[in-house]
Amino acid sequence: MLSRSVLRAATNGARSSSLVQTATLPGKSQCLSSVLRVPAQSRRSISVYGYTQAKALVYSKYGEPKDVLSLHTHSISAPHGSQVNLRLLTAPMNPADVNQIQGVYPSKPPFVSTLGTAEPSAVGGNEGAFEVISTGAGVKNLAKGDWVIMKKTGQGTWRTHAQLEESQLIKIENKEGLSPLQVGTVSVNPVTAYRMIRDFCEWDWMRAGEEWLIQNGANSGVGRAAIQLGREWGIKTLNVVRERKTPEETAALKQELKDLGATVVVTEEEMLTGGFRDLVKEATRGGREPIRLALNCVGGKNATALAKTLAPDSHMVTYGAMSKQPVALPSGLLIFKNLIFDGFWVSRWGDKNPELKENTINDVLQMTRTGRFKDIPVDEVKWNWKSEGTELAENVQGTLGGYRSGKGVFTFTGGDE
Ligand SMILES: NC(=O)c1ccc[n+]([C@@H]2O[C@H](COP(=O)([O-])OP(=O)(O)OC[C@H]3O[C@@H](n4cnc5c(N)ncnc54)[C@H](OP(=O)(O)O)[C@@H]3O)[C@@H](O)[C@H]2O)c1
Repeated sequence: MLSRSVLRAATNGARSSSLVQTATLPGKSQCLSSVLRVPAQSRRSISVYGYTQAKALVYSKYGEPKDVLSLHTHSISAPHGSQVNLRLLTAPMNPADVNQIQGVYPSKPPFVSTLGTAEPSAVGGNEGAFEVISTGAGVKNLAKGDWVIMKKTGQGTWRTHAQLEESQLIKIENKEGLSPLQVGTVSVNPVTAYRMIRDFCEWDWMRAGEEWLIQNGANSGVGRAAIQLGREWGIKTLNVVRERKTPEETAALKQELKDLGATVVVTEEEMLTGGFRDLVKEATRGGREPIRLALNCVGGKNATALAKTLAPDSHMVTYGAMSKQPVALPSGLLIFKNLIFDGFWVSRWGDKNPELKENTINDVLQMTRTGRFKDIPVDEVKWNWKSEGTELAENVQGTLGGYRSGKGVFTFTGGDE
C-alpha cells in the first residue's frame, strides 16, 4: 500500500538522520511496503520526513480481545497517487468486531505484514469515521479536512491513522450538522435496521400507522435505529428489552425508547408470561393492525415468542444471536400461518449493493442532520498517544457483556505526530 515512497524515505533517513538508530526496517518476509516501527522519542524526526506516527489495535491469532489484542506502533509515509492518509475520529466496538477477533465470525480479515508487525496480523474494528489529513496527487474527490468512512467492512478501523486508496472510501458529502459519532456509527447498525425494514416486508403505505413490527434487543444500536425508522415511516413498533436491576431503571429505559418513538416497550419477562397475548391483542386492536415483521437478534424462547405474534404471511428476520440459543419454531407457524424466516447480514448485502448502501447511509445522515435520527448512548473511550494497549483491549472485551451505559466507542484525541 505504501510502496516506493516508504522505501525511498526510509533509505534517505537511514543515510542522513537519527532514523538510522531508531527505525526497524521490515524483515525480508514482510511486505516491502511495510511501515517503519519508530520509538516514541524519535517521532518528531519522522514527521520531518513526511511520516505520520500511527498506532493500531491488532491481533495475530484468534481469542478473547483482552488476550490477543495489542497496540502496534508504526508510521505512515506521505500519500502518493490515489492514496489518502487518514486520522481516526471515532470508531465503535460492535458485537461482531469481538466475534471476529474470537475467530467465530464468518468474515475474517486476512493476517498480513503490511504494518510491520512481528507476526502477520489484522487491525480490529469494522466501522468508524476518519478525517482526511493528506492526499496523493492522483486523488480526485477528497481533500484535507473531509470526513470519510470505509466502503467495506473488514478494513480495520481501530487505528489512529491509516493509508487507503480513494476507491476504498465513502466521502461524507456534507458534514455540516453531523458529529463524528453519528458518521462513525452509521454504516452498520442503522443500515441493517433500514434494509431489514424496507426489504423484507411490503408495507401497505396507505395504512401508515396501522401496521407493526416487533423486535427484541430493542435497546441495541440496531434496535434503536429500527424504532426511529419505524416512527419516520409510520410503522408502529413493539419492542422487547431486558429487565434492568431495579424497576425504576427498567421504567427509565422504557421511557427512553418511547421518547425515540417506540410505540410499546415490554421486558423479556413480560413477553414470556401469559399476559403478553392480551397486551398484543389490545395494542393491535384485536389484530386489525397486523404485526408484519419481526426482527430477531436474540434467539431462543425470545425469538419464538416474537414469531407467535406475527400475522399470516409475515417475515421474521434473524440478524444476531445474542443469547447464543438457536431459533426453535412451532411447525404450525410454518404450515398454517405461512411465516417466512430470513436472515440478514449487512456485510454481504453491502458488498453486493455498494450504491444502495451509500444511498442508505446518506438517507440516515440526512435524517440525523434534521434531528430526526438520534445518537445512540455511548461509553466513550478516549484514545490518545499515551493510551495503553491493555486498557483499549479491556474496553473491547466489555462489548459482549451487555447492560452497558452505552456502546463502547473509541474517540481519538491525539492529533498527528
Ligand atoms: N447481521 C447483521 O448484518 C448485523 C448488523 C449489525 C448488528 N448485528 C447484530 O445485532 C445485534 C445487536 O448489535 P448492536 O451493535 O446493535 O448491539 P449493541 O448496541 O452493542 O447492543 C447489544 C445489545 O444486545 C443485547 N444483549 C446482549 N446479550 C443479550 C442476551 N443474552 N439476551 C438478549 N439481549 C442481549 C443488549 O441488551 P441490554 O441493552 O439489555 O444490555 C444490547 O441491547 C448483535 O447480535 C450484532 O451482532 C448484526
